[in-house]
Amino acid sequence: MMDILYEKVCRPLFFRMDPEKVHEQAIFALRLMGKVPLMHTLMRRYNASKGKPVRLFGVDFPNHVGVAAGFDKDAQAWHLMDALGYGFVEIGTVTALKQPGNPRPRVFRAVKEQALINRMGFPNDGAEQIAARLKADLRKHKRHLPLGINIGKSKIIPIDQAVADYTECFLALADYADYMVVNISSPNTPDLRKLQGDTYLPDLLGHLQKTNRERAKKLGQNPLPLVLKIAPDLSYPEIDAILTHIQQNEFAGLIATNTTVARPPQYHLPAETGGLSGRPLSQKALDIVRYIALRTEGKLPLIGCGGIMDTADAGRLMDAGAHLLQIYTGMIYHGPFFAREIADSLSWRQRDWV
Ligand SMILES: Cc1cc2nc3c(=O)[nH]c(=O)nc-3n(C[C@H](O)[C@H](O)[C@H](O)COP(=O)(O)O)c2cc1C
Repeated sequence: MMDILYEKVCRPLFFRMDPEKVHEQAIFALRLMGKVPLMHTLMRRYNASKGKPVRLFGVDFPNHVGVAAGFDKDAQAWHLMDALGYGFVEIGTVTALKQPGNPRPRVFRAVKEQALINRMGFPNDGAEQIAARLKADLRKHKRHLPLGINIGKSKIIPIDQAVADYTECFLALADYADYMVVNISSPNTPDLRKLQGDTYLPDLLGHLQKTNRERAKKLGQNPLPLVLKIAPDLSYPEIDAILTHIQQNEFAGLIATNTTVARPPQYHLPAETGGLSGRPLSQKALDIVRYIALRTEGKLPLIGCGGIMDTADAGRLMDAGAHLLQIYTGMIYHGPFFAREIADSLSWRQRDWV
């Protein structure tokens, strides 16, 4: 009922406006709801999913469906996303340095194709400010959902200084995360994807894991699960190399995938540069998840992301070997009750992973 209302009434209105403006208003509306605790509670109850809890890399997730990175870049609404039926939230991408991102407009819809193209370029308030926001919010709000923090390279930092830049960002934010994601796969920061190659990746992963362990030892805690987010544009040999580095550095898992720079010819898409998400990404993300699950015999925790536009897409990604899912573009096309619908559709799946 509410989803039909969204698709027939709200979406046509929203889709007349600039996508980024609509996004800002959605965050504003969520924050407004958060100011009325009763409203938040009612929404949380209304949207409570029948989804089953999942334990993955030592973290308990109330259901399989999370918000992908990029929706709450500045950690403004993460503590309210349970009201939309989500089982976890990933904020960011956060960079060590505050930065404005690319000039607007930088998000484009291809409505008939159920797709988005974005070239945001990691606009965000920077690690220090976001850490302060998380600290203040965690004092005020109970943590209902596991929180992932996705970190990336600051634009002005050259690639050969990326390790120090990621490490600074990691240390600023680690206190607030249930898991940390190392994003080396966004197409909109020059050179970022080069970090996926053998020249840079072993050093980056090794250093971050070392920092993670030293910090944990100092605090008398367990190290945080470190997760790598990869692009869908990698070849299978490149994925194999990444899997080796992941295993050597004992990363906890992978997120597959980020947006694609490919433009599948069967889709009519605006001639804009940037990362493509939504329906045209579904098959590629599925192929990559299936490949990784086969290569790792289902033992590597895998978060499937990319082109989940209906419950069938979600089921296929889970069947291919994903342990958890994340959505972004699907929520833009199907509205605030989409996460619950997906989580409910997976409620018969009860698997425990560590
Ligand atoms: C507008 C927009 C901004 C995004 N920003 C980020 C980001 O900052 N960091 C990141 O790792 N992924 C980012 N993504 C990628 C998503 O997290 C996700 O990997 C991708 O969109 C595929 O999922 P989807 O087809 O469900 O949207 C962004 C996606 C969109 C559409």
